[in-house]
Amino acid sequence: MGVARTPLIAGNWKMNLDHLQSIAFVQKLAWALRDAKHSFSDVEVAVFPPFTDLRSVQTLIAADKLELGHGAQDLSVHDSGAYTGEISGAFLSALACRYVIIGHSERRQYHHESDEVVAQKTVAALRHGLVPVVCVGETAEDLEAHGPSAVPVAQLQVVLDAISVDADVVVAYEPVWAIGSGQAATPEQAQQVCAALRAAIAEKLGEDAAARTRILYGGSVKSGNIAGFMNQKDVDGALVGGASLDVDEFSAIARFRQHVGTV
Ligand code: 13P
Repeated sequence: MGVARTPLIAGNWKMNLDHLQSIAFVQKLAWALRDAKHSFSDVEVAVFPPFTDLRSVQTLIAADKLELGHGAQDLSVHDSGAYTGEISGAFLSALACRYVIIGHSERRQYHHESDEVVAQKTVAALRHGLVPVVCVGETAEDLEAHGPSAVPVAQLQVVLDAISVDADVVVAYEPVWAIGSGQAATPEQAQQVCAALRAAIAEKLGEDAAARTRILYGGSVKSGNIAGFMNQKDVDGALVGGASLDVDEFSAIARFRQHVGTV
């Protein structure tokens, strides 16, 4: 008997929407999901705004008792001190963040975050009671040179070496070539890599951890292709970029159950 994993639809806003725009957006999203009678206990929905929006989003969610979750897009490996520009996991916890994205390919690429830094950030998130959403994924060159699973699995191994068996983490498989390109992986490609990632978790942390851990797919996810991904055994949700900035698209993605089976 497998463990039921609650699907997670996560919206990574990247560097879009200021704090005022975030309030309007979250209100509209909440209305759209309410009108559609979305069951948050069946499919969790979370938004990942820029740091400067988090207080506004937290306040709105708390005031209106919205069931949406929220998280940040990065955190520091440090807890406090002379680290100009850095944000502590303690500050994110204080803003009721449930999640924090770690090791997004844009951070790996533009900020030279190594697998070791990603592992340290994962440990920092767990230290502050946050659920890390650890991103892994191969470039087009990696795919050519090493095949689909080798690089994402190797990236995850470094994180798995640093965490305990009972750590609550989410893994996001985001092939770099699929991000923002309009060229999503096929559901079969996503399944193949997500299954390999789950096998790596089983090997390092045991079958229970592997059965419990949610593994998301990300990269050009839209309302028109989400059902294909969610039909896969090892895909437990999506990390959505561009389409998470459109209320109708994002709420349609969250309501994928209404179109699963239609592809
Ligand atoms: P897109 O959905 O825009 O391809 O971005 C995916 C992503 O990077 C989410 O973290």
